[in-house]
Amino acid sequence: MEIIIQPTREQVSKLGAKYVAQLIRQKPNAVLGLATGSTPLALYAELVRLHRETGLDFSQVTTFNLDEYLGLPPVHPASYHHFMWENLFQHLNVNPKRVFIPRGDLEDEEVAEYCESYEVEIQRAGGIDLQILGIGGDGHIGFNEPSSSLASRTRIKTLTERTRADNASFFNSTETVPQHVITMGIGTILEAREVLLLAFGVSKAEAVAASVEGPIASFVPASSLQLHRRARFLLDEAAASKLIRQDYYRWVYDQKPTWQNP
Ligand code: F6R
Repeated sequence: MEIIIQPTREQVSKLGAKYVAQLIRQKPNAVLGLATGSTPLALYAELVRLHRETGLDFSQVTTFNLDEYLGLPPVHPASYHHFMWENLFQHLNVNPKRVFIPRGDLEDEEVAEYCESYEVEIQRAGGIDLQILGIGGDGHIGFNEPSSSLASRTRIKTLTERTRADNASFFNSTETVPQHVITMGIGTILEAREVLLLAFGVSKAEAVAASVEGPIASFVPASSLQLHRRARFLLDEAAASKLIRQDYYRWVYDQKPTWQNP
């Protein structure tokens, strides 16, 4: 794992966008795995700027989102479909046929088969080149809540009350946050060729420390990234504040050969 600590959220987000842009320039038909929530917003804004000002071309890029609330139609203002089009896709030259977001408007009996078909689509696209992740205060990635199998695939999950409360700002109240979601599994995420996890603020510091410096455990889903060959944690100072070996990570990053930087 590579741990990169930057002074501010803006610097972290710009660096994250540089990794994405570098990939797209090298591989115009790259497959991106995307997250929602507040964490990737500044990274997405930077991608939009790079598209507008430098012509970064998304026309051949394929995207797969991590998750969606079950019970919300795509037009619902709190759905992740709505979030992604509002904050990213409508500002880029993406081909809508190459945009994949799990469907939330499924009947109960459709869910299992649909989840399998989402995995098949990822395979058909050649697998995910770069997966962007946020992290929950309880260490979740995607909506893989604590105790999710480290081998899990796309499936239905039940949100914890903590996650529902954390996400209530996108709804009228915690009670209206759906209880069930569809999420890529931890096994699905680990198959991405490269992973960028971003985290900001002291509310994420404990989960970050447990994921990076604690044991690999299904109770801390992001700790599974210790098994990944190319996982980067991009952190602001506050999110890094509970890491015991902060100085070491900073030192390693400072020694990094310049040709390795995006
Ligand atoms: C969203 C997702 C979640 C969030 C996490 C952090 O697609 O997969 O794992 O990344 O809940 O949410 P924020 O960024 O709102 O703090």
